[in-house]
Amino acid sequence: MPPRDYPLDPFWMPFTANRQFKAAPRILVSAKDMHYIAEDGRRILDGTAGLWCVNAGHCRPRIVEAIQRQAATLDYSPLFQMGHPGEFRAAALVTGLAPEGLDRVFFANSGSEAVDTALKIALACHRARGDGHRNVLIGRERGYHGVGFGGISVGGIPANRKAYGSLLPRVDHLPHTHDPERNAWSRGQPAWGAHLADELERIVALHDPSNIAAVIVEPVACSTGVLVPPRGYLEKLRAICDRHGLLLIFDEVITGFGRSGAAFAAQTFGVTPDMITFAKGVTSGTVPLAGVVVRRGIYEAVVDGAAEGVVEFAHGYTYSGHPLATAAAEATLALYHEERLFDRARELAPAFEEAVHGLKGAPHVIDIRNFGLMAGIELEPLPGKPGARGYRVFLKCFEKGIMTRVAGDIIALSPPLIISKQQIDELVGTLGSVLRESRGN
Ligand SMILES: Cc1ncc(COP(=O)(O)O)c(C=O)c1O
Repeated sequence: MPPRDYPLDPFWMPFTANRQFKAAPRILVSAKDMHYIAEDGRRILDGTAGLWCVNAGHCRPRIVEAIQRQAATLDYSPLFQMGHPGEFRAAALVTGLAPEGLDRVFFANSGSEAVDTALKIALACHRARGDGHRNVLIGRERGYHGVGFGGISVGGIPANRKAYGSLLPRVDHLPHTHDPERNAWSRGQPAWGAHLADELERIVALHDPSNIAAVIVEPVACSTGVLVPPRGYLEKLRAICDRHGLLLIFDEVITGFGRSGAAFAAQTFGVTPDMITFAKGVTSGTVPLAGVVVRRGIYEAVVDGAAEGVVEFAHGYTYSGHPLATAAAEATLALYHEERLFDRARELAPAFEEAVHGLKGAPHVIDIRNFGLMAGIELEPLPGKPGARGYRVFLKCFEKGIMTRVAGDIIALSPPLIISKQQIDELVGTLGSVLRESRGN
């Protein structure tokens, strides 16, 4: 292995056990299609599309060249009170993929920014309609909506919230939808649990509908272990929101761009929200780009309701629609289209499901669930050491040449949509051998 010509200490790594990592680093130096190359030259099969984002596979020439061309043509242009062609073209492509009626896009750079933007749009929209008292936001337990103050407030992961004070003041949470007794081992949508959406009625009654702005959920809660919505659950949420005039936001930062077998999970599930947040897959992870697709009526309430010449929505980022990001998005979306990658994900899903459920009976596995090209394999925690077993399995997998993701003791798989059937077998087969070797620990 070539010696490292850089120190490890200055960089404070995100969502990482820094001391543990720096004692035994895992460094990736390049990537191509389905594989990473580690610094010791080993090929690592990417079972997680990076961080759920590299849906088209790594270093695809079409995307790389588009970014290179753009960097040499227009590296940056101011985005407030100015425009460049790429952001309008990318917006049209994204809305072209979105469910009918959602045809305006606001760009941001990360999923966290997209979520905070969507929450602000909800508040701004109600205010513009003369309903400014609607300011309660409802999220869900075990929801992950990034790390902004808005996102952690509506999010439901205690570790991400506990250190940061009282957060947004007017927030409530639905219960999550996973019950190990009633919907373990489900393939696709579990049959049990639609009634959990009725909790929204209880929360609405508590706060009074006239005070509630929006409900935000991930259609599939991915980061906390692939929690698939029970059959009928999202439909019920939609109906309750309609009944009380609440905006429904789907956070599709992970589920967007093919992961569920369609452009958005909203289409796969047949439930249309009022806003969709997206990020990651829109550029296949190459350049940060994110955003919110909104119903035209929301845009019109905020924009058309304001006086001529004033900035209607006082929000935006220096890089909201950066030229490199929108060039990457244009090339990525064209690639998805040409290679029919969303269809491919849908077509591969049954083989993926069969493979991951083949791990039933492997040591320590207490649940397996899947949807589209996402799967969660839940392991029994070591007594008194939650997360330790999952982390150990993740490390062993990396040593054996596959990239997995671990959330506590849940191993998540979400490969690029270009994965082959043989690579699915290799991925799941390697995970199975790691689990079998872990028997007794
Ligand atoms: C559903 C969801 N929302 C928001 C985010 C935050 O995205 P980012 O890390 O780009 O801020 C994530 C990240 O995984 C996510 O899964």
